[in-house]
Amino acid sequence: MCGIVGVTGNPNAVEILLNGLEQLEYRGYDSAGIYVNDQKGDDYLVKEKGRIADLRAEVSADVHGSTGIGHTRWATHGVPSKENAHPHVSNDKRFYLVHNGVIGNFTELKETYLQDVTLVSETDTEVIVQLVAKFAREGLSTKEAFKKVLGLVDESSSYAFLLLDREDPDTLYVAKNKSPLLIGVGDGFNVVCSDALAMLKETHDFIELVDGEIVILKPTSITIEDPAGQVVDRKPFHVDTDPAQAQKGAYPFYMLKEIDEQPGVMRNLIKKYIAEDGSIKIDADLLKAMADSDRIYIVAAGTSYHAGLVGKELFEKLIQVPTEVHVASEFAYNPPLLSAKPFFIFLSQSGETADSRQVLTQVNQAGYPSLTITNVMNSTLSREATYTLLLYAGPEIAVASTKAYTGQIALEAILAKALGVYKQIETIKDFDVAAELTKAANGMQELVDEKGKIEKIAADMLKDTRNAFYIGRTMDYAIVQEAALKLKEVSYIQTEGFASGELKHGTIALIQENTPVVAIITDKKTANHTRSNAQEVKARGANVLYIVSRDLATPTDQIVLPEITPLLSALVAIVPTQLLAYYASIQRGYDVDKPRNLAKSVTVE
Ligand code: AGP
Repeated sequence: MCGIVGVTGNPNAVEILLNGLEQLEYRGYDSAGIYVNDQKGDDYLVKEKGRIADLRAEVSADVHGSTGIGHTRWATHGVPSKENAHPHVSNDKRFYLVHNGVIGNFTELKETYLQDVTLVSETDTEVIVQLVAKFAREGLSTKEAFKKVLGLVDESSSYAFLLLDREDPDTLYVAKNKSPLLIGVGDGFNVVCSDALAMLKETHDFIELVDGEIVILKPTSITIEDPAGQVVDRKPFHVDTDPAQAQKGAYPFYMLKEIDEQPGVMRNLIKKYIAEDGSIKIDADLLKAMADSDRIYIVAAGTSYHAGLVGKELFEKLIQVPTEVHVASEFAYNPPLLSAKPFFIFLSQSGETADSRQVLTQVNQAGYPSLTITNVMNSTLSREATYTLLLYAGPEIAVASTKAYTGQIALEAILAKALGVYKQIETIKDFDVAAELTKAANGMQELVDEKGKIEKIAADMLKDTRNAFYIGRTMDYAIVQEAALKLKEVSYIQTEGFASGELKHGTIALIQENTPVVAIITDKKTANHTRSNAQEVKARGANVLYIVSRDLATPTDQIVLPEITPLLSALVAIVPTQLLAYYASIQRGYDVDKPRNLAKSVTVE
């Protein structure tokens, strides 16, 4: 999604903006721009299609200022181009605006109010900045004009706006609705960003904004107003993340670093949530709310949805709590018939996914209790849910989620254990979650240490293929769906994660000579079934790779997984598939951290 940065009251504004945008590059974008004002009559607007490096090349030495706004654009309305890049400027060159989100009624606004205005871009954002200029020309103050425009956008609209008036150059006008935006509190200056990561070099203290609020931001003052115009007093929160954690270090790509970090994520979750005596450090109110419910609904998107599929197995098999897993974008418009006392769990690495946020809004309106499991402190899904549990996995920068997936599964296991103890389920004492997560960490380490073997398999099997299949049954079917997403989103190989028992009902028609098929086998009761399904495709020319648990392996299986309880086999089985995806992408010459068309945090529906 789009990245937003702003600063007021700092003579180093250009570098603060450019560095902030560079920290947000991982989120995916196709163009970028900055506007700066030196408050002495000089100002500069620089925009470029392409990377921040291209933008930096256009920022000449004389571009300077102490206030400014910046933006990385992930195109929604209008193709990626310099004209469509932000900041957008009013025709009278007075107002500059950056925006993250979608204005649902921008066409109507253009037709109603801007018939006599020539627009230079295809974007919804430019309509907004031209409207502000129009109302200012009619005599409204900048703040009044801004608020009037905000009152005209329809309720489906999402926005994080930063507006700058060159006639009032030390002030940033800020507005937020559904899209993430934070105010950063500096020493003698202030900043704005769509993700704290962008400004950790400037400050670790941030103020969150609530939908509908506006902010008048000056170098030494922050005035937050609610939709009714009442001033809101909100204290900053402190972000501990070390900016170095968000760097690649010696790694060629973030994705490889984050795959390697997974053993540490397991160990950190044990440290954060499990006491020396084995008791689980989770809020009793949360456990009570879950124990009082009669069904768990897990709602998520993409990889987080796949982590939910494993969560269902954990809650149902470990503590017999009926659990459903739903794709957020479907649930929002076609919810299932809910039980009498539902409890909702939102899984989200970013905590900002619009599809998930939309469901949480519905859940809150219905008054149901909810938990968000996320990797980002104070993210929207975290703040708006009844309860929140953090992954503490460190920033996940690569678009392809890896350590967040395994972290979510591990935390679901910890939660299931805690809930089982709370509900006094006799058998839960046999599930030593700390020991199992330690095994997971050690097993992951063993697998990432043999990545050279995986690299060779990828070269032999995936480098030139058009398509591929992952097959598995029961828990392995949950795993193969994530394995398939990983491969397709970074290598662009058309990949299906398929229930192996279902192949013969049609899809096996796609198997031909050398079609890569990866069989994942960690479930004892279906191991032989999946093996025979693998034989069926092998007999039709497929090139089959076996990823098998140690206790089920045969001497010819190419990848053998370290021992772990079958309910947590995803934590080790997924590692070779993450590495296969990583190497396939590299070997096919792609930018594995920033795959085409994708964004790290999908903050639009
Ligand atoms: C995962 O590799 C993808 N980048 C994507 O599917 C992601 O998992 C999905 O957009 C959900 O994001 P979230 O976990 O931040 O909500």
